[in-house]
Amino acid sequence: MKKKILILSGGISKERLISLDTGLQVSKELKKNGYKVKIYEPNNNLAKNINQFRPNIIFNALHGQFGEDGYIQTILESFKIPYTHSGPIASSIAMDKEVSKKIFIKKNIHTPKFITNSFNKKTTDLIKLIDKKLKFPVVVKPINEGSSVNVHICTKKNITKILKSMKSYKKVMIEKFIGGREIQVAIMGKKKLGAIELKPKRKFYDYQAKYNTNAKTKHIIPVELSKDKLNQIMDIALKAHAVIGCKGVTRSDFKFYKNKFYLLEINTQPGMTKLSLVPEIAAYKGISFIKLIEWILKDASTKR
Ligand SMILES: Nc1ncnc2c1ncn2[C@@H]1O[C@H](COP(=O)(O)OP(=O)(O)O)[C@@H](O)[C@H]1O
Ligand SMILES: [Mg+2]
Repeated sequence: MKKKILILSGGISKERLISLDTGLQVSKELKKNGYKVKIYEPNNNLAKNINQFRPNIIFNALHGQFGEDGYIQTILESFKIPYTHSGPIASSIAMDKEVSKKIFIKKNIHTPKFITNSFNKKTTDLIKLIDKKLKFPVVVKPINEGSSVNVHICTKKNITKILKSMKSYKKVMIEKFIGGREIQVAIMGKKKLGAIELKPKRKFYDYQAKYNTNAKTKHIIPVELSKDKLNQIMDIALKAHAVIGCKGVTRSDFKFYKNKFYLLEINTQPGMTKLSLVPEIAAYKGISFIKLIEWILKDASTKR
């Protein structure tokens, strides 16, 4: 008997549409392969839905706040039903770019220099601090968002305006801008699955470059790197996955500049849309979409 899978998708984060798409792609593939599937948008009736459908496994296809940051994982722990991807603690650490970067630094994983801003300083003083500690251009981004939502490359000229537009976040990250290439690595449990390079036609790998085929971002696989360098970047991704205590599949985002890898972040719920990178890396390694999903489902039942 094929298993019953409850897919959680949608949610309340700014990545809601991407999550709906991830949920839909996973659902289609599972149905095609004989699974009994229900897509469900988590709300106050989560317990009722779980008790009615009685899934064997819960596939968490949520992205961003509430779905990727430990909240839903904490709730799911109470149902005693296997659920996919990382647990509450790893999820909350990975989602928080400030906390995870502090861990990366402690563990000697190279990450761009940064400061945080809680909007309690005069902008002129902040600019002085950036000049001293980071130098312009910088990247201003939310601490706990994804899909490049509200990520901005800033110069001294536009930073005041950008910061003003981000005041609804209590705190933002200001990171040194790293030029060069954009490479992402997928980890599957303890295995280094592979890497892919992105060449956006836009200014950077922003929301449009990620999800709009008209933006024509080039996906390059295999990545043109020496064997040594490729091993090096995959080792860093595996180390980041391990030190944060992640489970299942993760995707680490890097910049490669002047022969150095800079880890930007690790994602515990990588997208599974048609343009998503983990399925593309898996396919290149001979792992079909259904095999990837089935591995994630199987992994859900192993110890967290
Ligand atoms: N310090 C940086 N230097 C250069 N580009 C950056 C930097 N930080 C982010 N970016 C660009 O913004 C994209 C999204 O940033 P990232 O930190 O991965 O946040 P998100 O969680 O939104 O994906 C990156 O893939 C990269 O193209
Ligand atoms: Mg990213």
